[in-house]
Amino acid sequence: MNTNIVWHPAAVSASEKRSLHGHNPCVLWYTGLSGSGKSTISNAVDRLLFERGCHTFLLDGDNVRHGLNRDLGFDDASRVENIRRISEVSKLMLEAGLIVGTAFISPFIADRQLARSLIGASFIEVFIDTPLHECEKRDPKGLYQKARAGDIKHFTGISSPYEAPMAAELHIRTTQLSIREAAEQIVHFLEQRQIVA
Ligand code: PPS
Repeated sequence: MNTNIVWHPAAVSASEKRSLHGHNPCVLWYTGLSGSGKSTISNAVDRLLFERGCHTFLLDGDNVRHGLNRDLGFDDASRVENIRRISEVSKLMLEAGLIVGTAFISPFIADRQLARSLIGASFIEVFIDTPLHECEKRDPKGLYQKARAGDIKHFTGISSPYEAPMAAELHIRTTQLSIREAAEQIVHFLEQRQIVA
C-alpha cells in the first residue's frame, strides 16, 4: 500500500448509522457448490427481511461477475481475489448498517476465514449443503454437463475443489428442507442473535 495514503476518520460513526435502522447489521455469508441453492435461499431470506422492514443488500456471484468482478475468471487466484473484494465490499455495507447477504461459492476455507476476520463478530457463515450428485442432477444452468464434457475448465466439484465448512454458524441441508423452511431457519437464527426483532 502507498505510505502516503492516510486514513480519514468518518464524521458519522458506524454506530450512529446503525441507530437509524430498526435492526443490527450482519453479513450472512452463504457458501456452497454451484447449483446448491445459494441464490434461491439468500433471495428468499432477503424477501422475508424486506417484508419486516429491514435494510438489506444481496451480493450474488453471477451478478457481481457482470460488473465489479467482470475481470476475474475461475482459476484459484481469481477466486481468491473475487472473495477478497466481496469481503471488503461487505464490510463497507456492514458499516452502513445493512444486513448483507453474499452468495458466492467461496470454495476455499482460507478465504472464508479471511472474510470472517475482516468482518468480525457480525460474520455468519451459512453452509448451503447440497451434495454434488444432487447439484449435478439439478444442473439448472447446464454447467455440470459442460464441465463433465470438458467444455468448462476449473469447475467447482469437478475439476476445482470445494472445501466444505467445518463449523458454519448455520448448516442448511437442502435435501431435507423446502426453500421457505430454509429461509425461516436463517431468519430465526437472526432473531436468536438479536439482529432482527
Ligand atoms: S467463486 O468460486 O466464489 O469465485 O464463484 P462465484 O463468484 O460464486 O461464481 C460462481 C458462478 O459462476 C458460474 N460459473 C462457475 N462456477 C464454478 N466454477 C466455474 N468454472 C464456473 N464458471 C462459471 C456459475 O453459474 C456459478 O453460479 P452458482 O450460482 O454458484 O451456480
